[in-house]
Amino acid sequence: MKKYLVIGNPIEHSLSPKLHNHWFKHNNIEATYIRQKLESKDLKNIVSEIREGKLHGVNITVPFKNEIIPFLDKLSPNAEKTQSVNTLHLDTNQVVGYNTDIDGFELAIKDTKFNLKDKKVIILGAGGVVPSIIFALNKMKVFDISISNRTQKKAEDLNKLFNNLKIVDWGTIPNFDMIINATSIGLSEKDQINFDFSKLKEKKFFYDVIYNPTETNFLKNAKIHGNYTENGMKMFLHQAATAFRIWHGIKPEIEEKEIKLLSQ
Ligand code: ATR
Repeated sequence: MKKYLVIGNPIEHSLSPKLHNHWFKHNNIEATYIRQKLESKDLKNIVSEIREGKLHGVNITVPFKNEIIPFLDKLSPNAEKTQSVNTLHLDTNQVVGYNTDIDGFELAIKDTKFNLKDKKVIILGAGGVVPSIIFALNKMKVFDISISNRTQKKAEDLNKLFNNLKIVDWGTIPNFDMIINATSIGLSEKDQINFDFSKLKEKKFFYDVIYNPTETNFLKNAKIHGNYTENGMKMFLHQAATAFRIWHGIKPEIEEKEIKLLSQ
């Protein structure tokens, strides 16, 4: 029986086991997928277990997406560019780190039919998933990307990686076509982002990386004021599907029943 893991800290809320175990069943794959809470000191051992064939694949979440890199044998070009890894796979005796969050975001946006070419985008936050979002936005040929983070240094570090970001003070929001909440504000139902929605003149695209709760106050308020909204569920599903394809060579289904499964 093949064994897969998602590692992170905290990890209790990860929905990856539910989704991958559902796809195993659906595709008649004999495997198990579980979550495991880790400390930094455990990362080296996890990679060794893949090399020795004891583990067959690992997903990585906050806060280890960058920290895992020194222990790997090889990075995919996307993982190299973003310095962010969320999927591990053994390929001809080498443990390779992939980044499937980029695909996740890009495919999620494609599903919305919202064309980002030449659009002005602002990202709130500079955490683990943001390099992947920036990479995908550049691929989609947006006009420009502004980034605003409470700790400005983290936004500046991201600019060292990409060189095309406009750093904006936390609390200031320049004109935009799309705004992305990539902070953890909204994970708790009462969380509010300080933003005056009534000042917007036209319909804008509000995106929240958070999918649980399904509608943060950020999206609720945007919707009330007539804007287009999307949560992070599709991004989560697509990143998982790309990881599944790397491991099993099969593109799994993303349909209403998968969305329902994760909303329960
Ligand atoms: P990590 O930073 O470990 O990668 P994350 O969940 O991916 O974790 O990112 C959390 C993001 O939410 C960060 O951008 C964080 O801002 P800081 O870099 O200043 O910590 C942001 N965030 C969390 N709580 C916040 C708050 N109350 N106000 C503003 N930003 C907040």
